[in-house]
Amino acid sequence: MRAVTVTSPQGFDSIEITDLPVPQPGPGQLRVRVRASAVHPADLAAANGAFAHLTPPGERRVLGWDLAGTVDAVGSGVERFRPGDEVVGLTFWLAAGEGVQAEFALLDASAAAPAPVGVDPALAATLPLNALTAAYALDLADLPPGATLAVFGAAGAVGGFAVQLAAARGLRVVAVAAAYDEHLVRDYGATWFADRSAQPASAIRALVDGGVDGVYDPALAGAEALSAVRDGGVYVNGYPVAPESQRGIRTEGVQVAPDGVRLAELAGLVEAGRLRLRLAETYPLADAASAYKRLAAGGVRGGIVLVP
Ligand SMILES: NC(=O)c1ccc[n+]([C@@H]2O[C@H](COP(=O)([O-])OP(=O)(O)OC[C@H]3O[C@@H](n4cnc5c(N)ncnc54)[C@H](OP(=O)(O)O)[C@@H]3O)[C@@H](O)[C@H]2O)c1
Repeated sequence: MRAVTVTSPQGFDSIEITDLPVPQPGPGQLRVRVRASAVHPADLAAANGAFAHLTPPGERRVLGWDLAGTVDAVGSGVERFRPGDEVVGLTFWLAAGEGVQAEFALLDASAAAPAPVGVDPALAATLPLNALTAAYALDLADLPPGATLAVFGAAGAVGGFAVQLAAARGLRVVAVAAAYDEHLVRDYGATWFADRSAQPASAIRALVDGGVDGVYDPALAGAEALSAVRDGGVYVNGYPVAPESQRGIRTEGVQVAPDGVRLAELAGLVEAGRLRLRLAETYPLADAASAYKRLAAGGVRGGIVLVP
């Protein structure tokens, strides 16, 4: 089978298309015939060597975190899925042996969920990593209905899910994004909009007296985003690192994890038309380097997805 790999990750020109043996599922695993796999900032970082210290020098690794596909074989002990099932799923690439940007990939059955029915696999592949991250960030924020939440990077892949899921929880959302994305983020359910280029923290404080109850910051805006939180509120960083607390603010850092149960809930929302997915472009697996370059060029709205 063909797979997107790096051996000496030093940029997108070090991305290879490699012929590998089809993997065999171990106990509790699924082998999935991959129909689509998204490209994320974490993949760009991997191809640029940011995680090279996690892999012995010269060892080849398959890239990719999440997929949509068809179960092809199951390992011992798997009861929830059987060959032919359409699934979505996430592998925690930093710890997993291999990624999923390939014709076949292994997933822990506990990390997979039934794919949303009636949704094209390329679109479904945009769900797992980003929607799970947004859901976990909102769990960390732990705000009650009616509370105010600002999402920095609201038009981004993670931020777009965060706005939608927060609005569905009854939060009043300030979406911080570029002016040309105002319509999009309001459509996601934002109550207010703050232009990211015009001191958004001041704009937020003008909208919500004293500052918002919470901020989620997948844009990694840092101090500007933190300063929009009211005293004693909560700040959730886009990275799994909680910045130093100030003004009694509880600070958190989100870390996504494979979670088939939660993913099934999110897929259910998609199927019910209550969570919208966005696809920007698909690329053939063999042209993965172009897909990576496209995402790195910025300004993408929606997922960049590889199709084997
Ligand atoms: N911790 C975890 O487990 C986890 C999981 C998934 C992702 N992440 C991280 O989350 C981050 C976001 O990922 P993503 O896929 O959503 O990326 P993305 O689609 O590029 O979203 C980032 C968004 O933030 C916008 N932005 C940039 N600077 C801004 C600012 N100062 N104020 C407001 N908006 C700003 C960008 O706009 P433009 O496109 O116009 O620049 C873009 O819309 C990445 O760093 C990713 O690595 C973390």
